[in-house]
Parts: sequence; structure tokens; C-alpha cells
Amino acid sequence: MSKKPKFQSPTGMKDILPPEQKYFRKVFDVCENISHFYNFKRIDPPILEETELFSKGTGITTDIVQKQMFNLKTKGGDYLTLRPEFTPSIVRAYIEHGMKNLPQPVKLYSIGPLFRYEHTQAGRFRQFHQFNLETIGENNPVVDAQIIQIFYNILNELKLKKITVEINSIGDNQCRPYYKKLLVSYFKSRESSLCSDCRRRIRENPLRVLDCKEEKCQRIVSQAPQLIDHLCEECHKHFKEVLEFLDEVEVPYRLNPYLVRGLDYYTKTVFEIFIEEKTPKKTVPEEPFLKIALAAGGRYDGLVKLLGGESTGAVGGAIGIERIISLLKKKPAKPKKIFSSPIFLAQLGNLAKRKGLKLLEEFRKSKIQVRESFGRDSLKAQLKLADKIGARYTLLLGQKEALEGTIVIRDMKFGKQETIKLEKAVKEMRKRLKK
Ligand code: HAM
Repeated sequence: MSKKPKFQSPTGMKDILPPEQKYFRKVFDVCENISHFYNFKRIDPPILEETELFSKGTGITTDIVQKQMFNLKTKGGDYLTLRPEFTPSIVRAYIEHGMKNLPQPVKLYSIGPLFRYEHTQAGRFRQFHQFNLETIGENNPVVDAQIIQIFYNILNELKLKKITVEINSIGDNQCRPYYKKLLVSYFKSRESSLCSDCRRRIRENPLRVLDCKEEKCQRIVSQAPQLIDHLCEECHKHFKEVLEFLDEVEVPYRLNPYLVRGLDYYTKTVFEIFIEEKTPKKTVPEEPFLKIALAAGGRYDGLVKLLGGESTGAVGGAIGIERIISLLKKKPAKPKKIFSSPIFLAQLGNLAKRKGLKLLEEFRKSKIQVRESFGRDSLKAQLKLADKIGARYTLLLGQKEALEGTIVIRDMKFGKQETIKLEKAVKEMRKRLKK
């Protein structure tokens, strides 16, 4: 058995190796292109923030704050936290940079790593990446629908199938307190049948019981009063309009009255976007499909004020990049291009190497991709590499060619060779690649 290396990446944190980079690039490109179309601008907040920003913003009763933050104390005595999500940072930046003075709403997107001390499992990491959108300074329900539409479009553009949008309204501080009372009295009368976490949640945040995955709790939740029946007039109207806008742009959705989300700042609209995946054989035969949350978000009209700004309407959401990538990797690969890198430049001897270096620069300036292996001296080894990477043409620059100012073009497909003047190499290759 091979011995484990002494150092390995920390639990739940992975290297993104070169072969994986193309998936990240692809997802980032799709996300960025779509958000540019909707006029979102990029913002990169720092990876560390004051701990209090999250305990206040994300919410003291959330699992994130109670169990999952990576905290540290600096030498200067400041308490900082590796960001577990973007939203509080973006709101902090909105307030700190006086963005309320810009034309509203301010639309911002971010891409980057986040950190949560999770029980790691498939699709759940301690360092993961999100693409995050926030629209701050707008109360109109149309922007709630637009955020959902953008995430839906991103997943469609990435050709992911069996996508479901689940949506709910969790009201605001007009209607939620009354509903919470109803819920507490309902759960209290059944407390002994709930799991220990939920018994605690009744006191801390009864809404979160609705979200519990334990079967015995779900049975009780299925009979619980629903917030949707107790929304105030304003929240009811807002929710109705969000749904109408979604109908208009043909984003299909499913109402889920028990969707509450695990973050404290939400008001009114909350949503989650899932994909249905076949459950691996043998695991849970009675549940052939597994729901994986790819994106989630909602409205958070109280957060700007809570973090020190003025009362401001806002809505946002985030998509989990690793989860998307693991789905993209499962898709059948497209037939491989025959020639992955069209040109390989081989050289033999010191003079040829010098001329080769210069030629490589000319190709770079002409934006023509060329692979080389200047560190290798054996021509055989270089040709083997050219073959391995699937080069369409190999350019050979030996001692004789270097002295004569020529270069040999070898057509790797048809095995033909031709010698041309060195200064014509770039022009000739451009012509051949266009064919
Ligand atoms: P969230 O539901 O915590 O929301 O995360 C959004 C998405 O990030 C999830 O649906 C999932 O795809 C991905 N994700 C979360 N945790 C992990 C993990 N440990 N490993 C891998 N992927 C993960 C938020 O973060 C909110 N800040 C979204 C938001 C923005 N709401 C308003 N604006």
C-alpha cells in the first residue's frame, strides 16, 4: 500500500488542478456574461471580515454562525472571520462606500471562495466557490423575479436538465411575529415528538423547524400552519406579483410553503433552485431521486439597516460552483478535437533554440497558439511530445535551418514536409490554420 504524503490539503478543501480549471472558467464565463447583460458590476470584498459582521448579518441563530465559521484573532486583537457567504460583505461595502448616492438599484456580482466548517460530504465542502448577485435599493417585486430568472438562465445556458425553482414568501416583521406565535403553540403541543435540535429551535427560531430534514419532524411539519395563509396584505401582494413576473418570463416554479432558508436576514421572497439526480443504487431505493440545491437566495429588506445603513430594499442569490461543476463533469464528453494544439515548435542545437525563442514571440504577438519544449534537446523526444499533444503541424528548426534562415513544416496528418523561409513562418502558418 502506498504511504500517504505527510502533507495533504485540509479536510473539505481541494486543489483545483489544471485539468479542472476549464470547468471553473466555463461556469465563470457563463455567469459573468449573463450578469453583464443585466448590468451587474463586479465587486471583490476581502476574504476576511470582522466576525461581528456575520454574527449580526448572517444571524446569531443560524448554523453558519453557531457552528461553521472559521474565526481568528489577529496580533492586534481584532476578531476576524473567513467569509462564509458574500451578502453581509456586499451590504457592508454598499454602506461604507455611500452607494446609496448612486442611481438605485445598485447591482453587484462577486465570484470567489467561501469557508464553512461543514461535515464534509459529496457537494459539501469547507472551502467552496459561489457566484453571487445582489440588487440593493429596490423594493419592486420585479427584481426578485429577475434574480431568479438570471440563475435559471445560467443553469439553462450550462445545459443542465431537470431544474426546479422552489419559491415561498416568509413575510416581514408585520406578519411574521403573529405566524411565529401560531407555530410555537403548534410545535409546543407536539414537542416530545420532535428531534432535540428542533426542540431548541422552537425557542430560538421556530421557522427553522419547518426546514428540518428528520423524518419525524417532517411528519409534524406537514400539518403545521402555513405562513402563506397568514401574510399581511403588502407581503401577499408582493409575492403574487413576483409569481406573475415569473409566469411572464416563463420561469417554471413550484410553491413550497415550508421553504424558509437557513439565514436570518430574509424577508418576503425566498427561493432555492434544485436539480434532481438519480440516487446511487442501494442507498435509498424508495427515493430514486435526490434533490441537490444549486442556487438559493431571497429578499432581505432589513439587512442594510441592521448593519448601520438606512432602510433599503434588497434581493440577491448565489450559485454553488462546485456543485455545478460536478454535474458538468458527469455529462458525456464531446468528441475530442483531433488536434488540441495546432502547432508544435521543435528545435535542435543552440542557434536553433535562440531563433526558436524569437519565432515563438512572433507567434505570440500574432495570437497563434504554439507549444514547445525548449528544455528538451532530443529531437525524438520533442516529436513524441508533438504527437502526444496532437499537434497538426510541427515546425522543425535544426542547426542547418538556423544557419540558412529556413524552417521545416511537417504536416502531421499527411506526413508531408516542406521547407520555407523562416521569416515567412508566421504568415504561412496563419494561412494553413485558416484552411
Ligand atoms: P446559501 O444557500 O448558503 O446562500 O448558499 C447558496 C449556494 O451555495 C447553495 O445552494 C449551494 O449550491 C452552495 N453551497 C453552500 N454551502 C456549500 C458548501 N459547503 N459546499 C459547496 N457548496 C455550497 C447564501 O450563501 C446566500 N448568501 C445567498 C444570497 C445572496 N442571498 C441573498 N443574496
